[in-house]
Amino acid sequence: MTKTLAVAAIKNGTVIDHIRPGQALRIIHLLRLLKDKHRVTVGLNLPSKSMGLKDLIKVEKRLLSNDEANEVVIFAPEATINIVENFEVTQKKSTRLPVSIANVFACLNISCITHHEPIENLFYIEERGKQMRLTCHYCEKTFDRDQAKVKI
Ligand code: CTP
Ligand code: ZN
Repeated sequence: MTKTLAVAAIKNGTVIDHIRPGQALRIIHLLRLLKDKHRVTVGLNLPSKSMGLKDLIKVEKRLLSNDEANEVVIFAPEATINIVENFEVTQKKSTRLPVSIANVFACLNISCITHHEPIENLFYIEERGKQMRLTCHYCEKTFDRDQAKVKI
């Protein structure tokens, strides 16, 4: 039986696989992938043996830094991050949930100082079972990862 890929193989770049379904577009925002001109192909709700359904992102000619890989984990704890060189997977990046994240999310508290002064957002990240909680450094409001708004 020949195996065909739902999303074409890439030559050089990064494949973020096994993304929780529904999270790929948030990760595209998070990594600012729409702002540069890299070729990005996305698969949504693809069948997966281990997850049932999964999302997947392939970015040509872009390697993720360790910090970026760790940020992906906030939205997709099960994600695997593969570096592809000359059509071969040459590295599977290991990830670790970051303790804090700067300048990515906007605070949900509209009276928070970060909405009124030009200061960088900073949130502390805490894993509670399957939930991920973010706490604003400035106003201490806590909210769930799924409510978090990525700054554009
Ligand atoms: N991939 C790709 N282009 C390549 C090589 C691999 O897009 N030239 C993709 C594969 O389609 C897969 C991911 O990169 O989504 C990881 O590839 P590989 O390690 O070969 O897959 P698996 O053995 O299934 O690894 P895992 O169990 O980690 O998914
Ligand atoms: Zn705040």
